[in-house]
This record gives sequence, C-alpha cells and structure tokens, in this order.
Amino acid sequence: MKLIRQSAEWNPFWLNHLRNNQQIGLVPTMGALHDGHLDLVSKSRSSCGVTIVSIFVNPTQFNNLEDFQKYPNTLDQDLKRLEQAGVEYVFLPSVEEIYPTPTQLKFDFGELEHVLEGKFRPGHFNGVGVVVSKLFHLIRPHIAFFGQKDLQQVAIIKRLVNDLSFDLKLEVVPTRRESDGLAMSSRNLRLNKEDREKALILFNCLTTAKAELFAGKNWLETQRKIELEFQSDPTAKLEYFDLIHPDTFETYTTFDPSQKSSICVAAFIGDIRLIDNMPIIS
Ligand code: PAF
Repeated sequence: MKLIRQSAEWNPFWLNHLRNNQQIGLVPTMGALHDGHLDLVSKSRSSCGVTIVSIFVNPTQFNNLEDFQKYPNTLDQDLKRLEQAGVEYVFLPSVEEIYPTPTQLKFDFGELEHVLEGKFRPGHFNGVGVVVSKLFHLIRPHIAFFGQKDLQQVAIIKRLVNDLSFDLKLEVVPTRRESDGLAMSSRNLRLNKEDREKALILFNCLTTAKAELFAGKNWLETQRKIELEFQSDPTAKLEYFDLIHPDTFETYTTFDPSQKSSICVAAFIGDIRLIDNMPIIS
C-alpha cells in the first residue's frame, strides 16, 4: 500500500493505471475508520481495478471549532485496516497541500443547503463541496464512493457532479449499523458508555416512525410524538426529525407512498452530535 502525501506523486500512478485500462475508485474519508468505511472500500475493490482512500480532516467543513479539534484520529489503526483490506493507495494530504491559499469561491446549493444539516451547520456544505471538488480534480477517479448515512451530503455531491460535469460516477453504499442498530460513525468513538446506550434513541425513533407510516398513521402526529420523546430525555437534544425527498430534501407534511421519501434525524447525545436516516420509499 503506497502513502501519497502530495498530489504530484499520484500523477504517474494515475497515468499508469489509465494506460492499463484500470478503473480507479476513490473513497474519501476523514479517517477514524469503522466497518462502514470498509464497506465503501470493499465496494470500490469489487468495482474498480485500484482503490485510493483519502484521509483528510477537512477544516473548512466544521462549523464548530471544538468538533474539529476533537475529531478522532486513529491513523495508525486506519492504515493497518486499509492495508488488510487490500487498498493500493492512501492519499494523506496536509492542510497546505489542499489549501495552498484560502478558498474564496463559494458554492450555492440552493434550498438543499438551507434545510436540515444545512440549517444547523451553516457553511458545512460549502466546505464539503470545496474539498470534494479538489479531491475529484487531484485524484481523477472513475468512481467515487460515499455512505448513505450522510444522505444530504450525497444529494449535495450529486448536484456538484451534475452541475459541474465531473466526469465520474457516484456510488452510494448503505449505512452499516452496530448489532443494536446504531449507525456506525467516527463520532461514536467519543460517546461514553451511558451516552452510547442513549444514542440508540435515533435508530429506535426511525424504526418506530417507519412502522407508523406504513400503519397509515399521520406523519405530523408521529413527528410530534418523537419530538416529545426527545424532550423527556434531558441528555438527548433533537435538532430535526423530518420526512423528506432524498434528492431534493423538500420536507413533506404528509406521507405519500407514491413519492420517494426518507426520514432524517439529527440530535445531540450529551455533547456529541449524531445523524441518521432511514429510507421509507426508494
Ligand atoms: O463524509 C466525510 O467523511 C466527509 O464529509 C468527506 C466526504 C470525506 C469530505 O471531507
């Protein structure tokens, strides 16, 4: 497995793989890898001739300095896991490599960046858009792999690829869950034992709400019930629990089984912010 710190080192490898007609798969990450990331890697390895994983904790997508400073770093373990998984390259750029000068350009993703995550994390999707564009330009993959757990990020990146005509394919990989249902996330590493148990409230509310929708219950009543459930737990602070269209993130007030829909949730458990979502109609 080769470690690449500067994008110029990647260029001869890229050319060589292109000449050998090998598809290049990119798995962008911020490290602190879990089995969900490894699902992306294994999808890339089965679809592409070579896989490059990037590990870069992107400062511009954090709207909260403490969240950035406390973002878990498990680099040695990450590299071991990637090597065992058969990854050919890891791109480990410095902040200076990615941001030789501060980025002035700003994206406008329209409504998509003003709702749910966009509303609670102002500037977050601009930072994601900038870094993902840079990774696409520097690595030039044929296919890039993203997790469905960050559903709104997926919608943003689809729009980026479409609007800027990036010549690549996106693959979205289903969320990997712990055996009790908690969605895997690098931030789970920061949960203490008690909060780890409380964090299950996200998955439990999603499954309850899904069952209620299919039982014909009124969406707004279900949503209200879940909000009240969060209010009764002092360590869990709900930010949103919404039924949305998974591409446009238009929020629905009623459930229509003929329309694509997912439920998205974000909540603080103690001081750790977690998100999750569940497809309802795909
Ligand atoms: O999903 C993530 O880990 C990050 O948002 C990404 C896509 C690697 C960009 O920094």
